[in-house]
Amino acid sequence: MTDLFSKFDPLIEQRETLLATGLTDPFNLVMERVESPTVAICNGKRTILLGTYNYMGMTFDPDVIAAGKTALDEFGSGTTGSRVLNGTYSGHRAVEQALKDFYAMDHAMVFSTGYQANLGIISTLADKDDYIFLDIDSHASIYDGCALGNAQIVPFRHNDVEALEKRLKRVPAGAGKLVVLEGVYSMLGDVAPLTEMVRVSKENGAMVLVDEAHSMGFIGEHGRGVAEAQGVIDDVDFIIGTFSKSVGTVGGFCVSNHPKFEILRLVCRPYVFTASLPPSVVATAATSIRKLMHSADKRAHLWENSKRLHAGLKQLSFSLGTDEPQAAIIAVLMPDLETGAAMWEALLERGLYVNLARPPATPAGMTLLRCSLCSEHSSDQVGEILGMFAAAGRATGCIS
Ligand SMILES: Cc1ncc(COP(=O)(O)O)c(C=O)c1O
Repeated sequence: MTDLFSKFDPLIEQRETLLATGLTDPFNLVMERVESPTVAICNGKRTILLGTYNYMGMTFDPDVIAAGKTALDEFGSGTTGSRVLNGTYSGHRAVEQALKDFYAMDHAMVFSTGYQANLGIISTLADKDDYIFLDIDSHASIYDGCALGNAQIVPFRHNDVEALEKRLKRVPAGAGKLVVLEGVYSMLGDVAPLTEMVRVSKENGAMVLVDEAHSMGFIGEHGRGVAEAQGVIDDVDFIIGTFSKSVGTVGGFCVSNHPKFEILRLVCRPYVFTASLPPSVVATAATSIRKLMHSADKRAHLWENSKRLHAGLKQLSFSLGTDEPQAAIIAVLMPDLETGAAMWEALLERGLYVNLARPPATPAGMTLLRCSLCSEHSSDQVGEILGMFAAAGRATGCIS
């Protein structure tokens, strides 16, 4: 018998070698208690959270929590059914209405996660004679959506408008084309040149899907994302998003103005063949989304935090994923996995949690410490964070 696990041997060995040095497992941390969007107790110690994607700090919003509790009391703990059978409650309709209002779009379809939204929409829209044009730094859920479908996949270099245009021109005239982009790319925290990308897509007869997972709530005048900030939201055919970041709960969605959009509810397998979100989750999401419509002050404070952390880390001479802060993600580049893991642990010991990211999730084989800021981080906390980076950086030899 061939052991089907043998393909994982190199990864098992790499992990064992790393842990043999006495390092805490960076992928197995337990949040023992969570006190607020920015503070948790980890290993018995007060820890500032800087790796949660909880951009707008909605997880402890009193209105959001109250809405969840009421729904739990009134509708029970779960729907035990698909959206197309017994799993559509009034709360599912209400959160879809909140999304339509938030984006000022005609249609909204809620999935159980953002991962499933990409899986479902991409695999259902593009069929075997169609082409999907894909930025090579796309999120795993976008790649998996392509893998689930039958379309021809045409990758292009990250954020390279010319490369996209060239590839669009190469496919047969009249073929169905879907260009899949992200507003903010979450590994390096860089923003897509959507104005140009959408223009070349439209000139070449392609539909455009933008995943705004890391920009919803924060970027753009109304928090609708990079497509709004760059003035092209009306030319984008589909926006994908998640409830697991700025919205502060779990779930995913697609919004669109396409007149035939609603048919997707019957043909999209990751929507049909899974249970719908619990009533408490959709109630918290709807409340959160409606509050995000009026969160200009939070957005302004989050930008301040992002700019200050970026400038501070740069001053400490860390290498960062972007020259200027473009989003609420700031990626700190590490020379290798061992140093990255040591720095991650040194930060944790000092009371700071960030995400350690490594290949294959990262582009170009990079090891990164990914920091995601929250509108609820106080100015004092940003100061503390910079102090901890300075101390941990010196202790691990990352900076002098
Ligand atoms: C760009 C992007 N799309 C989709 C997702 C999936 O979202 P969810 O956590 O709701 O499954 C993520 C999550 O990290 C993401 O970064």
